[in-house]
Amino acid sequence: MERTSEVSERSQSRAATSDAKMFLNVKDLKIGVRTSGVMLPVVDAANLSVDRNAATGIVGESGSGKTMLCRALIGTLSRRGAVLISGSMLFEGRELAGAPESVWKRIRGREIGYVPQSSLAGLNPVLTIGTQLIEAIMAMEPANRVEAERTARELLELVRIPRAKLLLEEHPHQLSGGMRQRVMIAAALAQRPKLLIADEPTTALDVTIQREILTLMAGLRRDLGMSLILVSHDLAVIEEVCDSVMVMYAGASVEVAPVEVLRRAPQHPYTRALRSSRVDTATPGQDLDAPSGEPVAVGAWPEGCRFAPRCALVDQTCQRGPQPPLMGNAHQSSACIRAEPVEDTW
Ligand SMILES: Nc1ncnc2c1ncn2[C@@H]1O[C@H](COP(=O)(O)OP(=O)(O)OP(=O)(O)O)[C@@H](O)[C@H]1O
Ligand code: SF4
Ligand SMILES: [Mg+2]
Repeated sequence: MERTSEVSERSQSRAATSDAKMFLNVKDLKIGVRTSGVMLPVVDAANLSVDRNAATGIVGESGSGKTMLCRALIGTLSRRGAVLISGSMLFEGRELAGAPESVWKRIRGREIGYVPQSSLAGLNPVLTIGTQLIEAIMAMEPANRVEAERTARELLELVRIPRAKLLLEEHPHQLSGGMRQRVMIAAALAQRPKLLIADEPTTALDVTIQREILTLMAGLRRDLGMSLILVSHDLAVIEEVCDSVMVMYAGASVEVAPVEVLRRAPQHPYTRALRSSRVDTATPGQDLDAPSGEPVAVGAWPEGCRFAPRCALVDQTCQRGPQPPLMGNAHQSSACIRAEPVEDTW
């Protein structure tokens, strides 16, 4: 029989390890936009944790609040006309919710890098890649042009761009979509951030290029010892690169779990529908079981569980009260009142 002191020592050391790993912890984040003088919640229960040197995916349909959450994490909600209403974002023990712009200036780009959604359109068509990268580098830290050009070349080599020196002379339209996305990733890595947030970095790319970019990002994360938040509406993309997943639906986190747990035993009916609608894991000849119906629009969230209008398991109790909170344990939790209790077998 194990002695109590041994059990306590082991759990203390487990707690210490998990504290050391805890890198980013987002709790009950609520974000709103002001429309016609009224504050409209667009995210109201986002929960996410990212370990040091690990990759976490955020998956969900269009409009679920993925980009708003990312913007909260780099302090640029106001650029989308949004505000942080409440909640916590602990980054390496520092509370970023409510941080002033002077703090964000030290964090944004330097500690948390961001590849924005639609970044392929983000390059200025009339300036060369070199000019744009060099300006971005010089805006971040004092460097002369020669040093900044060397850094730009090194960054392009980091994202496996061949002929980096020549590419600096080229304009965005001379580059393929995949190359442009590599340039955007290079720009986000200029200050060697500890955390990179990539918002749908492969959406506009064809399948082969998508795979190359995902492989690149997984390799960079490993080689640079960064953490990664990868946003996608495609669970297959997340599962390929990430260690854990947060599933978002209508402004709320509805399931959080390690990738292998989600693969084996998804709990929330929405997660299950996302999994069974995947082309790559479907049984040949069988219909794909995509979530039926449309996502509920911001401002029209129903009473009770927001997934209720599309859920095959719905009953009357689901439609009462607030959106169910995440329930479970430290390894898997879901926001469904009918989810089976999760055994903590870790
Ligand atoms: N300025 C705004 N005013 C009103 N609603 C807004 C505004 N900006 C965003 N929204 C709404 O907030 C919700 C969340 O938007 P967000 O861009 O975070 O979604 P998303 O999950 O990233 O979607 P997508 O997959 O299409 O990128 C959406 O319903 C969107 O319509
Ligand atoms: S709470 Fe009810 S409606 Fe919501 S996901 Fe669970 S079973 Fe479906
Ligand atoms: Mg988005």
